[in-house]
Amino acid sequence: MAKKTQLFYCTNCGNEVTKWVGQCPACKEWNTIVEAPDNYRKKGSASKPAGGRLQRTERMSLSEVSLTAEDGIDSGIGELNRVLGGSIIRGSLVLVGGDPGIGKSTLLLQMCKNLSDSGKSVLYVSGEESLRQIKLRADRIGQFSDTLKLISDTDMDAITEHILEMHPDVCVIDSIQTMCINELDSAAGSISQVREVTQTLLRIAKEQNIATFIIGHVTKEGTVAGPRMLEHMVDTVLYFEGDNSSLYRILRAVKNRFGSTNEIGVFEMVHTGLREVINPSEHMLEGMPEDEPGSVVTCVMEGTRPMLVEVQALVSETSFNMPRRTAAGTDYNRVNLLMAVMEKHMRLHFSNCDAYINVAGGMRIVDPSLDLSILLALFSGYANTPLKHKTIVFGEVGLTGEVRAVSQPLARVLEAEKLGYEHCILPQACLNTIKTSGKKINIDLIGVKNVRELKNLIQG
Ligand code: TYD
Ligand code: MG
Repeated sequence: MAKKTQLFYCTNCGNEVTKWVGQCPACKEWNTIVEAPDNYRKKGSASKPAGGRLQRTERMSLSEVSLTAEDGIDSGIGELNRVLGGSIIRGSLVLVGGDPGIGKSTLLLQMCKNLSDSGKSVLYVSGEESLRQIKLRADRIGQFSDTLKLISDTDMDAITEHILEMHPDVCVIDSIQTMCINELDSAAGSISQVREVTQTLLRIAKEQNIATFIIGHVTKEGTVAGPRMLEHMVDTVLYFEGDNSSLYRILRAVKNRFGSTNEIGVFEMVHTGLREVINPSEHMLEGMPEDEPGSVVTCVMEGTRPMLVEVQALVSETSFNMPRRTAAGTDYNRVNLLMAVMEKHMRLHFSNCDAYINVAGGMRIVDPSLDLSILLALFSGYANTPLKHKTIVFGEVGLTGEVRAVSQPLARVLEAEKLGYEHCILPQACLNTIKTSGKKINIDLIGVKNVRELKNLIQG
């Protein structure tokens, strides 16, 4: 009797191996390899793809491919357009990921409303909610026009039929984890289902030129849906993030074939759905304490947009053997590194201090220009003395204590000026860039070369 060949696959990235291993060789995740069920369809197997072949492809030269202004569709939400790279591209496949309850369905339903209001035909497929539930949500958002059609179904064959029949401009699938292809025995949400459903949607989107949005729930570890694998297949990956407890939501592009990936969109959850936040700086600083030790305002760049955020540090005497350190909204290791730089070059002693860092407003920031503000917040908290009134700080800090230049200092200073800041502590090297721009600035610029100079900049 022929021996059955066994197959294992990674639930995180979809990688296939013939032998069980503890760590996936492709994505290096631990304990994600599981045995494939009998009807598991191998990656790239020659079997007929679910949903069938739709059209024969044509061979063309680039000059024969025509582009029209119609290729981009305005989503009616400025912040969403920005993140998508200007507009919704026809035939593109967009994955919108995020924690459950963050507002993915609300955002896309609002987009559908705007699209249908402007006369586009839109199909919203929900596998999670019944039509009545969608209506309840829609009633909070506003009045919908009839070019928006809804389906509540999870069977991909039926959904494919609906899409081909209606041929909408934009189609939304909520969510990929609930959709299932009956030919495959595995449960909806399993890696082979998610892969096949996405394949089917990808083919329809490209062949029929329908912009398709896929909602995907993503856990921190990414074990549920294999989001890594999805990311390779789609054109654009957007993540909707933010604290469930805070009102602000950030839409971030992590992959975009049609635009830049460092743009973000900022939204606020209100009782009528999501509202765009046009000037995030003002909102981020709302309710900020004035002239408190440990509170520092910085300006980070999110794509092309400068944004002011408050960095807070609490430094207190420890009552543990090991001092506690936490960092919310920024990299924990970076905070430890900056504390080591301060100990070495500013001769401070943190060994008996607990230190907590928090970026207020629920933002997560990776911009290295945050360094100097973390450092000054820690120092101000340690010395229990506030910074000068209306001071803003930005700059990268190196291991030898040098303060290094950061990108676009002028844009940052102008944003600070707009919001009424009077002093700016910035890298010495950035002063020149600002001077040569010839722009008149009503802000007191204080250039620093090394963190040692910071000791003189605290009040009192
Ligand atoms: P939802 O879009 O259902 O999240 P997801 O699809 O990402 O799981 O959003 C759910 C949350 O949004 C829920 O906690 C309620 C809140 N919400 C409002 O605050 N106001 C509103 O107008 C709507 C529609 C939802
Ligand atoms: Mg939802």
